[in-house]
Amino acid sequence: MHDKKTIIFSKISPDDVSLLQIIEKQAYPNPWSEKIMLDCIKAGYQCIKMTPENEQENILAYAFMMMGHEESHLLNITTAPAFLRQGLAQKMLHRLLLIGRINHAKQMILEVRSGNPAAIALYQKQGFKKIGTRKNYYQYPGLNGERIKEDAIVMSRAVITTDQ
Ligand SMILES: CC(C)(COP(=O)(O)OP(=O)(O)OC[C@H]1O[C@@H](n2cnc3c(N)ncnc32)[C@H](O)[C@@H]1OP(=O)(O)O)[C@@H](O)C(=O)NCCC(=O)NCCS
Repeated sequence: MHDKKTIIFSKISPDDVSLLQIIEKQAYPNPWSEKIMLDCIKAGYQCIKMTPENEQENILAYAFMMMGHEESHLLNITTAPAFLRQGLAQKMLHRLLLIGRINHAKQMILEVRSGNPAAIALYQKQGFKKIGTRKNYYQYPGLNGERIKEDAIVMSRAVITTDQ
């Protein structure tokens, strides 16, 4: 795939959103809408994509993060299905932690679906610890139109750690 290519991080633009929507719908049972993505860009959140150098349309992974007072809040991190398990999300998290550090964040916080073992494993590997649960935080229609409710696990980690 991108083995011999340099991967770069750049800002997501509104023009990227239609492609992000394709990935988003493949990746999530409760995908973000186009409007949510555009609102995040408009609000000035950290909206980052990973692409091979000189292939700005070939989005491999992306993330949205909100900066708060001394805290960064990870809202979305996604790897395109064809590029899973190649370390991209891990690289993205490192970049987001760096952005947090530059912006004086002390903690990074996130919510993850309790039924999302891949993401939970990713976060645990990166030193995130569970700090709480939000009951029925996610509610979305299932394949047969039924209403699915799922808890969110809230996790956090220090942006600056002594082992980095
Ligand atoms: C979660 C997600 C972002 C991980 O992306 P990725 O690029 O495949 O992750 P990485 O290759 O960087 O994996 C890093 C580590 O995370 C863990 N991990 C990632 N996917 C995993 C899986 N399917 N099962 C178990 N552990 C997994 C592993 O510890 C992995 O390290 P290893 O490959 O050396 O074992 C990806 O599965 C995804 O986009 N899922 C759909 C969207 C989503 O749920 N996002 C999270 C929202 S909270």
